[in-house]
Amino acid sequence: MRGKKITVIGCGLLLMVVMTLSGAGAENFSSYVDEDGSISKPLDFRTDWVHLGSWIVPSENDKQYGFHDVYASQATIEAYQRTGQFPDGAAVIREIRSVETSTLSGGQTSWAGDVESWYLMIKDREERFEDHPSWGQGWGWARFMPDDSGQNLVEDYRQDCLGCHVPARKTDFVNIQGYPTLR
Ligand code: HEC
Repeated sequence: MRGKKITVIGCGLLLMVVMTLSGAGAENFSSYVDEDGSISKPLDFRTDWVHLGSWIVPSENDKQYGFHDVYASQATIEAYQRTGQFPDGAAVIREIRSVETSTLSGGQTSWAGDVESWYLMIKDREERFEDHPSWGQGWGWARFMPDDSGQNLVEDYRQDCLGCHVPARKTDFVNIQGYPTLR
C-alpha cells in the first residue's frame, strides 16, 4: 500500500518536471501557438473571454460588411489596464457575423446572424518567429473560416492584414477607440 502511494507521488513529481521543462518555450507563451508559430483558433472565447466592443460596417459594398464583436482574455485586459500595453501572449479576437434586419416590436432592427470569419492577433514581445509570414510588428496574425479545418488562412500578414491596421499603429495596431474597457 505504502509502496503504491510513493510510486503515485513519484509519478506526479516526474510529470510536473516534464511539464515545466516542455512549457519553457512557445507553450508557456500562448496555448494557441505551437513551436513553429502556427496559430490555432481559441474555442472558448465566447464563454471565457471578455467582450470588448462591437462595430458595424453597414454597407454591403464595403469589404468588411457585417457585425464585428471583439473579445480578449481577462488577463490581457487587466495587464493592459495596469501598464497601457498588451502583455506577451495577449490574444484579441474579432468575430464577423452577417447583418440580419427586420421589423421587430421595437422598430426596424438589425442583429448579428451567422459567423462569417474570425480574425485573431496574438502579442509576441520577443520576436520568436522572425521569418514566419504570419508574424511581424509584434503580433501573430490569423484568420479562420467556420467551414474550414481550423487552418490559419493568412499567407502573408503584410498583404492580408497590416495595411488596414497601420492607422492604429500608435495603439499597437489595435483600434482601441471602440473598446471602453481599454480606452
Ligand atoms: C480592410 C481592412 C482590414 C483588413 C484587411 C484587416 N483588418 Fe483587422 N480590423 C480593421 C478595422 C477597421 C478594425 C476595427 C474596426 C472594425 O472591426 O471594423 C479591425 C479590427 C481587428 C481586430 C480587433 C482588434 C482591433 O484592432 O480593433 C483584430 C483582432 C483584427 N482586426 C485582426 C486582423 C487580422 C489578423 C487581419 C488579417 C488576416 C486583419 N485584421 C485584416 C481593418 C482590417
